[in-house]
Amino acid sequence: MTDASHTSHATDATDATDATDAAREPRVAPALARTGPRDRFGRVIDYLRISITDRCNLRCVYCMPLEHPDLAEDDHLLTAGEIETLVRCATAIGFRKFRLTGGEPTLRRDLVEICRRVSRVPGVEDLAMTTNAVRLPELAVDLRAAGLRRVNVHIDSLDAVTLPRMMRLGRSERLLAGIEAAERAGLTPIKLNVVVARGMNDHEVADLARLTVERDWHVRFIELMPLGSSAEARLSVTHFVSNVDTRRRVEAALGALEPLPIANASDESDNFRVAGARGVVGFISPVSNPYCGGCNRMRLTADGRFHLCLLNDDEMDVRAALRSGRPAAARREAVRAILLRAVAGKPTGHRLDAGLHTRGRRMHQIGG
Ligand code: 5AD
Ligand code: SF4
Repeated sequence: MTDASHTSHATDATDATDATDAAREPRVAPALARTGPRDRFGRVIDYLRISITDRCNLRCVYCMPLEHPDLAEDDHLLTAGEIETLVRCATAIGFRKFRLTGGEPTLRRDLVEICRRVSRVPGVEDLAMTTNAVRLPELAVDLRAAGLRRVNVHIDSLDAVTLPRMMRLGRSERLLAGIEAAERAGLTPIKLNVVVARGMNDHEVADLARLTVERDWHVRFIELMPLGSSAEARLSVTHFVSNVDTRRRVEAALGALEPLPIANASDESDNFRVAGARGVVGFISPVSNPYCGGCNRMRLTADGRFHLCLLNDDEMDVRAALRSGRPAAARREAVRAILLRAVAGKPTGHRLDAGLHTRGRRMHQIGG
């Protein structure tokens, strides 16, 4: 098969995590043994995050408007077959790790089929998903059987009153039931993503970190990122809490956090352990401690465009190439060429510190 041009060699333990490309120095030298495509800054880009829908059932205040969200037309969402083709093209040029995101990926009726198709593509070494967990009680077992390895669950609070102030249509007991279902189904390690917002859930960060004492979970605190100039982006500025402050609060309540060794150079989370705890406390700090230097990711938007960096606007359409009507081999060739151009064009660095924001997209269209 013409596609199979790579050798398989990923050296790092995979740890697909959520968040952004920002300007952090590489924490270790670039991994020379890795074989994925390199961008012009020498970064190996071998991780593709695929937003399979921009719809979401929770509509968090910093992510998506409650009413009249700007949604892609149904037929602009890629089909399961198109997603599989894209993943085949990506593995052919050296991509290894894949994540399904949204919006909320569990709203796709063909999610299990998408997982089955993607997980079977030769060269896929890791398949994970970011979800709000609401639909996991009915889906987790089938997803695991279809080859999904693990989930990151977005949950901002354990409190029945606080949670819907951020995750507007969320109910904490439903999210927790989803997390338990994921754990029972073996979609582990369970990573919980907590976006911290001033005056909303910042008083609760120590309680969330305390979960790791008894549970083998990763609780990761994420700094709010202002994407675009929408109301969600403005809220992300006015309610911003630095992870410096979040860490201080956690340590004030639970004692000094013990730093953990870096298992994976492109893990954007700084990881720690509460003394004696089973799980991990992580800090993802795109604003206060950017990590562009270690970025290994490309993103695909729900409507079929490569989004080259979360905090920049540059995009390249791939949907048209997937649907061009040309013979399959020519189509795949075109998709691979676009993906290589997207990697080559990946920018580095953002200017959030200077108040310069992106224009185009909201988070639910890109998938974090
Ligand atoms: N800032 C930071 N993280 C966000 N997410 C959504 N919106 C924002 C924002 N404005 C995160 C959610 C989810 C992931 C897809 O993106 O926590 O886990
Ligand atoms: Fe949905 Fe996640 Fe966005 Fe919340 S942050 S609206 S759960 S996609």
